[in-house]
Amino acid sequence: MREKAHFDYFSNTILPFLVKNKKDKVLSVWSAGCSTGQEPYTLSILMKEFLGKDASLWDTRVLATDISQKVLVQAQKGVYPKESLKDMPSEWVHKYFNRVANTDEYEVTPQLKANVIFKPFNLMDPIKFKIPFDVIFCRNVMIYFNQQTKDDLVNRFYDTTNHGGYLIIGLSETVNKSNTKYKYIMPAIYRKM
Ligand SMILES: C[S@@+](CC[C@H](N)C(=O)[O-])C[C@H]1O[C@@H](n2cnc3c(N)ncnc32)[C@H](O)[C@@H]1O
Repeated sequence: MREKAHFDYFSNTILPFLVKNKKDKVLSVWSAGCSTGQEPYTLSILMKEFLGKDASLWDTRVLATDISQKVLVQAQKGVYPKESLKDMPSEWVHKYFNRVANTDEYEVTPQLKANVIFKPFNLMDPIKFKIPFDVIFCRNVMIYFNQQTKDDLVNRFYDTTNHGGYLIIGLSETVNKSNTKYKYIMPAIYRKM
């Protein structure tokens, strides 16, 4: 739930728009630079909670990528200390996690794991995923890149965003507004119009 305002915007503004408008019933979300998996699992939970009993009618798989094999192994395990779930409603913890016996750790349920596809991917490489995305989360990753690299990456994100779709970056990051076709919506949130 780090940078919670983004998740609120996702649940309160983006999902209502997508669910109303996506006739194909596919919600394509990419967590780029997903680290140990908290972000993509949270996005998957938010989609399931938003869709409620209609969740089974939708394809809500989240693509989660990172350059580091090490973090991806941990992400796939989906085991987190109790402390890191403290900001999550307790009913979600019961629904989407199982306590690891004799520990203070919780493991993501197999059903939720099945909803997140983890893949190694270097954001410097050409983006060749099969379908474009409704929402790309790339938070606190571009801080490592120089301006030219950032501008190029944001342009490649734009090309793989569906019309009406969003790019969400970290709150301490900025997109060079003069060098992108994304429309600025609010701090850290951009949209393809
Ligand atoms: C600070 S973490 C951000 C995690 C998550 N997005 C968040 O905001 O909580 C940055 C992640 O970006 C990944 N990363 C750095 N350079 C990358 C690159 N060129 N391609 C893909 N991932 C990269 C790192 O391995 C790390 O897991």
